Amino acid sequence: MCGIVAYVGTREAYPVILKGLKRLEYRGYDSAGVALINDGIKVYKKQGKVSALEESLLGVDLHATIGIGHTRWATHGEPSDRNAHPHLSSSGRIAMIHNGIIENFAPIKQELLNKGYVFKSDTDTEVLLNFIDDILTNNACSLEEAVRIALKRVVGAYVIVLLDKENPDTLIAARKGSPLVIGIGKDEHFLASDASPIIEYTKEVVYINDYELAIIKGDELVLKNLGNEKVTPFVQQLDMELAAIEKGGYDHFMLKEIYDQPQTVFDCLRGRLDLAKGDLVMGGVQANLEKLVNAKRIIIVACGTSWHAGLVAEYVIEELCRIPVEVEYASEFRYRNPIVGPGDVIFAISQSGETADTIVAIENAKAKGAFIFGILNVVGSSIARISHAGAYTHAGPEIGVASTKAFTAQLVVLNMIALKIAKEKGSISNERFLQLLAELNALPDKIASILSVADAIRVVAQKHANASSFLFLGRGYNFPVALEGALKLKEISYIHAEGYPAAEMKHGPIALVDENLPVLFVATKDAYHEKVVSNMQEINARKGKLIGVVTEGDTSMKMLKADLMEVPSADEIVAPVLNVIPLQLLSYYIGIERGLDVDRPRNLAKSVTVE
Ligand code: AGP
Repeated sequence: MCGIVAYVGTREAYPVILKGLKRLEYRGYDSAGVALINDGIKVYKKQGKVSALEESLLGVDLHATIGIGHTRWATHGEPSDRNAHPHLSSSGRIAMIHNGIIENFAPIKQELLNKGYVFKSDTDTEVLLNFIDDILTNNACSLEEAVRIALKRVVGAYVIVLLDKENPDTLIAARKGSPLVIGIGKDEHFLASDASPIIEYTKEVVYINDYELAIIKGDELVLKNLGNEKVTPFVQQLDMELAAIEKGGYDHFMLKEIYDQPQTVFDCLRGRLDLAKGDLVMGGVQANLEKLVNAKRIIIVACGTSWHAGLVAEYVIEELCRIPVEVEYASEFRYRNPIVGPGDVIFAISQSGETADTIVAIENAKAKGAFIFGILNVVGSSIARISHAGAYTHAGPEIGVASTKAFTAQLVVLNMIALKIAKEKGSISNERFLQLLAELNALPDKIASILSVADAIRVVAQKHANASSFLFLGRGYNFPVALEGALKLKEISYIHAEGYPAAEMKHGPIALVDENLPVLFVATKDAYHEKVVSNMQEINARKGKLIGVVTEGDTSMKMLKADLMEVPSADEIVAPVLNVIPLQLLSYYIGIERGLDVDRPRNLAKSVTVE
């Protein structure tokens, strides 16, 4: 949603905040701002990216050792200077940044308007700020107390951080539903939506829980709940390196993260896949094997790319474990009042672990007695804390808004979970189990070999970069891969693209086919291969622009007039991990060809923390 950064300590606050906002820009980038205490509160904000704010502040005296900063993804109030954060209260005493949505802001605003408050913006945030200001003024209480009183009235999701000109050495922060991590330094503290703005200063962090409030000075951090009881901070060590969040010499984070995949898939397997012993070791699975093996059904709940990983998992789990699987869009599942209860296992798949629809969907299912198993990338995220157990994907920080390495890591983790359950259930032979372990183990090298011929994929991309529409088709395990390819192209190139089961074409979409429409088949060798080849011939017959992701050396493609992107052969169960790579590169190169900002596509944010 939005990115927040704050600092209090002995350093110049502005450069720390500015650098942090740039690291969090993948969370939202339609306007940005900072507020500093420098002889009173000074607020600076600008529509556009963080660089626009930076430019507008050249030559300004920004000396301060305490400050708050924000990069926005608009919900209430269009992107503009006046709707940008931070907001300053009517009294001018406090300033605030906010990530989330205050759902009951309208009645509170009406109350304040009746009291004569005037609002400078259209945001829900300014309403909460003036509500706190009003409590502060009328109750003669501390800012901490005023925040506590106000939050008891609030409905919605929030991380808020406040500056107070009457306590110029103190930050007040609170959280419910949106992420907040506090970095502990020597006589200084760093606050941010995730660890990427903090890692270069300290590895000691505290993840704030829902309904917690933090009172932060340079040399002091006090945590309390909304009941005003003290909470002992749980200090954790960050296990990531700064390099992981830098571009590493690549032009874009998206390209770096595509090229990270041989390593991230290896990291995902490391310490879990034991080829020598012919086994898989996954703590969260092992500890709950009985529940997983005896699950009446597995319901996969997710959004976007994570939902596509869930769809691949449906094919894999039903094939290997013979357990019925349903794949649900979290945004529908949370409101549909689904029939869920004890005995049901929910797989919550999420890169960020902060997607609001997925959070509420699993909270609802948990309340009905279902067992929640999280497949997540961000350690310590909200979904990790809601889940009963889980498995991390170890893909490292994913900065590019379009998910790439997290997707392949999700597929690998889901494959390993399915294999572990199948082995325990005896629903596959030990020989098949060992064969699939070897297939998983071979993935990093096979991914590297696809990346080594990326130039050939770039040529295909350049040929089709001016298309106005695209069709992605696949069958079986490759159907969800086609959906993912279409999503990547939409996100990165703004070309309208649809993914479809290839056999569905004849029931309508084939009407779209003409000499201008690129039609891409994920057509690697598997049980559906022959049928897919005949579908491709139907497109050839109608002069459609045929593109294929095919298995290296597949001679059956020779008679087709098509642009082919080859991948190494692999068992159909693990092949989606390979088959998506050319589609990631295709969308990246088409985005570049069209001169677009592939790391920060318009209208998108990396984690959608509001519904
Ligand atoms: C994928 O490229 C998008 N960024 C988006 O669809 C994403 O997959 C979706 O918002 C789910 O995010 P999550 O995995 O962090 O829950």
